[in-house]
Amino acid sequence: MGPRSGFSRIPGTRTPASSFVASTDNRGSGCTRSRGRSPPSRPLIRGVPSPTAARRSGRSATHRSLSSARWTAERWPVIESETQIAASTSPSPRDDHGSPLLQVDGLVKDYVRTDASLRRRPLRAVDGVSFTVGRSETFALVGESGSGKSTVGRVLLRLTEQTAGSIVFDGEEIGRLSERQARRFRHRIQMLFQDPMAAFDPRMTIRESLAEFLRLRGVPRSAVNSEVARALASVGLDSDLARRRPGALSGGQLQRVGVARALAPEPELVFLDEPTSALDVSIRGQIVNLLSELQETQSVGYVLVTHDLRVVEAMADRVGVMYLGQLVEVCAKEELFERPLHPYTRALIGVTRRSAIAEGAADHAVGLGRLHGELSLEHAEREGCRLAPRCPFAEARCEEPQELVQVAPAHWARCWKALDVEQQVDADATKGS
Ligand SMILES: Nc1ncnc2c1ncn2[C@@H]1O[C@H](COP(=O)(O)OP(=O)(O)O)[C@@H](O)[C@H]1O
Ligand code: SF4
Ligand SMILES: [Mg+2]
Repeated sequence: MGPRSGFSRIPGTRTPASSFVASTDNRGSGCTRSRGRSPPSRPLIRGVPSPTAARRSGRSATHRSLSSARWTAERWPVIESETQIAASTSPSPRDDHGSPLLQVDGLVKDYVRTDASLRRRPLRAVDGVSFTVGRSETFALVGESGSGKSTVGRVLLRLTEQTAGSIVFDGEEIGRLSERQARRFRHRIQMLFQDPMAAFDPRMTIRESLAEFLRLRGVPRSAVNSEVARALASVGLDSDLARRRPGALSGGQLQRVGVARALAPEPELVFLDEPTSALDVSIRGQIVNLLSELQETQSVGYVLVTHDLRVVEAMADRVGVMYLGQLVEVCAKEELFERPLHPYTRALIGVTRRSAIAEGAADHAVGLGRLHGELSLEHAEREGCRLAPRCPFAEARCEEPQELVQVAPAHWARCWKALDVEQQVDADATKGS
């Protein structure tokens, strides 16, 4: 974990110095994928710098220089429509060679829930969410439990139908496809589940589970055994495990098989739903590293859902912060940690930093703010800002509906007061120091 975040490191993750090697020579290469490409020709070699890593280092420099500047609200336009947000929430600079892999625009998902007095009430679990994901990019969705992150993934994977909005994958609208039409996309978008024990059929051997997914990319029966062995090797596992059933593997081993299974059809996009939170702390870092390394060798885009900002710090390129179904802040990862603008993001970072301070891994959490009370679904029905009942900066104008507005280059926040809060917090910090 980098010193800039002020978070404690996930055990087992590499330090930024060993992860990223500065060079922009390869910028642009490896961003695009062709259909039906052949599998990687060499086994995964851990720690080898890749074009992706090189492009990452180039991008970091850009974002550092942007985030050190100060901007005023007047300089940036209010974005009126969701289409504009999706179009202008451009993928990171390393994906500036064409259209995004995924473009989600104005996504809405309604459920009916039963409240404490057993009344059935509508719940808008996802409310007008728009974002893009570039090829080989990691877009992270963060937020407390119940903010709608997994629902976004369930809709992307067609596990549930959206209520409104558009999902364009590789230039094609997939949001309204019939089940039959959607089959064409099955191998191109995959999912890694949170709980590896629940993600596998306990009656099937590892070989059978992997074979099912290898068939999605047309691997012939005669090649299944060698491809299973190759898939297991790519995640650092011995091919002998193929004969076992899930119950005979540890959680960490099974999550590695989960990664191998998700990548077996050679997808272009994988939805990672809390990929480490069900795992033992000691092996979380290994899975984070594995996912990052495989992204570099296989040019796959990730939508990463997590409530753990340390995972975001280690893996993400850009981040969308969700609160009660809405995106409240969207920007590059470096920008988010250096200059969080929405009071909710500030509080999330504050919580993580305070625990890092308690562990002795960070020394300051000045001015990040604390929220009052807990997230309540009732607040999702508010016309005004949904955070107002918990926000330490709330005032009368916060009772008006809040739009996601651009507050700095490639940085959006859903709070009319975000820049004022920043000034106030900076001034308080200066006084206090
Ligand atoms: N099938 C469902 N029926 C009714 N409500 C649901 C259903 N799935 C999720 N929800 C509700 O939608 C909200 C968002 O859930 P979810 O997407 O799982 O959030 P997160 O992944 O951020 O924890 C929660 O309040 C949850 O209870
Ligand atoms: S609009 Fe008001 S209540 Fe909402 S986050 Fe901003 S300051 Fe807080
Ligand atoms: Mg979830």
